[in-house]
Amino acid sequence: MPLPEKNNRVIVTSALPYANGDLHIGHLLEHVQTDIWVRLLRTNNITCHYVCASDAHGTPIMLRAKELGTEPEKMVEEFRSSHIKDLQSFNISHDNFYTTHSDENKYFSELIYKKAKESGFIESRQIEQLFDESAGLFLSDRYVKGTCPKCSAEDQYGDNCEICGAKYEAAELGDPVSTISGQKPVVRSSEHVFFELSKLESNVAAWMKSTPLQEAVKNKLEEWFQQGLRDWDISRDSPYFGFEIPDMPDKYFYVWLDAPIGYIASLENYLNSETKETAEDIWSESANTEIYHFIGKDIMNFHALFWPALLETSKFKKPSNVFVHGFLGLNGAKMSKSKGNFLSMRDYLDILDADYIRYYLASKLSPSIDDIDLNYEDFQQKVNSDLVGKFVNIASRSAGFLKKNDNQIGNDIDLEIYKKFISSKDKITNLFADLEYSKAIKEIMKLADSANAYVDENKPWILAKDDKNKEEVIKISSTTINLFRVINFYLKIVIPDTCSKGESFLNESINSINDIDAPLTNHKINSFSPILNRLEDENLEALIKRGSNG
Ligand code: MSP
Ligand code: ZN
Repeated sequence: MPLPEKNNRVIVTSALPYANGDLHIGHLLEHVQTDIWVRLLRTNNITCHYVCASDAHGTPIMLRAKELGTEPEKMVEEFRSSHIKDLQSFNISHDNFYTTHSDENKYFSELIYKKAKESGFIESRQIEQLFDESAGLFLSDRYVKGTCPKCSAEDQYGDNCEICGAKYEAAELGDPVSTISGQKPVVRSSEHVFFELSKLESNVAAWMKSTPLQEAVKNKLEEWFQQGLRDWDISRDSPYFGFEIPDMPDKYFYVWLDAPIGYIASLENYLNSETKETAEDIWSESANTEIYHFIGKDIMNFHALFWPALLETSKFKKPSNVFVHGFLGLNGAKMSKSKGNFLSMRDYLDILDADYIRYYLASKLSPSIDDIDLNYEDFQQKVNSDLVGKFVNIASRSAGFLKKNDNQIGNDIDLEIYKKFISSKDKITNLFADLEYSKAIKEIMKLADSANAYVDENKPWILAKDDKNKEEVIKISSTTINLFRVINFYLKIVIPDTCSKGESFLNESINSINDIDAPLTNHKINSFSPILNRLEDENLEALIKRGSNG
């Protein structure tokens, strides 16, 4: 897949985390995947806006705030600022991290709803639902448990049975119980608003055909088409934390209606502070804009089905792609707070630098949607052998020879090997562009191996024993430092903190991939000090301890 067009405007998003809990390293996986792609675009001189936000609405948020004895607005803002802090500490380079509970999002949600209604895709229907009389709430599937109508297994949720796999309506459960109050719910009828997705199958299919989606995403969509698309209930009854539906008192937009619209609202809020442009223009059907969403596989239906359909009926631009990743597990098991197999972003940061895990996650990422495992031993081994043993080693073993030359890189460089390093540029760029991060990292590490082999073959430590080899030693070391510089630039989108220390050592700061075409010559660098330390056993042990305390 080629990089986006230079003349187009590019918008990139990560899914909006719910503002009712701490971010964990699963969320981090997604933000690291997105951030590397965004940084790739930027180093290739493509203008892009990377926007995200807190997902503020819905029943779980409302109930959590109640549990904490606070107002949802206040809780959302508190989680939002802690999420921003965490993400910034990992150097995730969002241009804006807004909230879906905002005026901008209310405006766009109403607008998109109105347009969908005017184009004839909104319909009201009377539906029957379980109602918890003591909590005063209609119960969504996850708040009802009962006996499976097919296999009679007990304690099953309201949508499907974990024992036999049957799918059903919550009202079909035997002996239903509200998980909120423990009371038996009653059936109540209520008016709901539906988005008529069933009428939009051919539109979504056309979008799918024209979009270079990952194979697994296409397959999933085709599976859904085969089952037939069902109309989508986009309303919820009061009490609900969200936006009231215009002209329908006490009815609210379902959180998943306004959540993706939050991408547009976050962009709007960003533009308002930066320029006179509006998100409405940039996201319009006719604009020269490319839109890329990064998401986890659990929310594929919302992004690859409902979202393009909604944008189609409201005449906004549909995604240029939806990039989907698998779930991150920890040491071979699903992450779970209650089972003590969990690591929050903050807990990680209390112990280790961001770059270790940024590198590890990148080395595991690919366009597949299979799950990914963070294994602590593998993590330590990979970081130490690749980053410290290979990459940093190139600089640390060569800097000393130049120190004797007043830290001056000479003007004679071994261009043959330098050119070889530069000629990997397109390959590495294309691998990153295609989400083949793991392969890109392998390519970069191959270069690190070649740089170390170059030193091994030329043996500057032996030559340096005789003063008559002085120029030769300077040439070898100047070349090696230049090879380090190229790798430092390739890695900069993955481990920005470390590579910025690499740049301080090199005594330069560069932002465009074209800046490495010519080697550094006749250039004074700084004395070397370690830019990344080994990941020691004691640090890893502290992390493991923290993780299992969850
Ligand atoms: N609020 C919705 C997204 C709305 S987007 C318009 C949501 N929030 S979430 O907090 O549950 O998840 C946010 C993102 O993190 C999703 O893309 C989800 O797939 C991803 N992940 C959550 N746990 C994850 C892992 N353990 N591993 C990898 N990604 C994970 O869904
Ligand atoms: Zn069953």
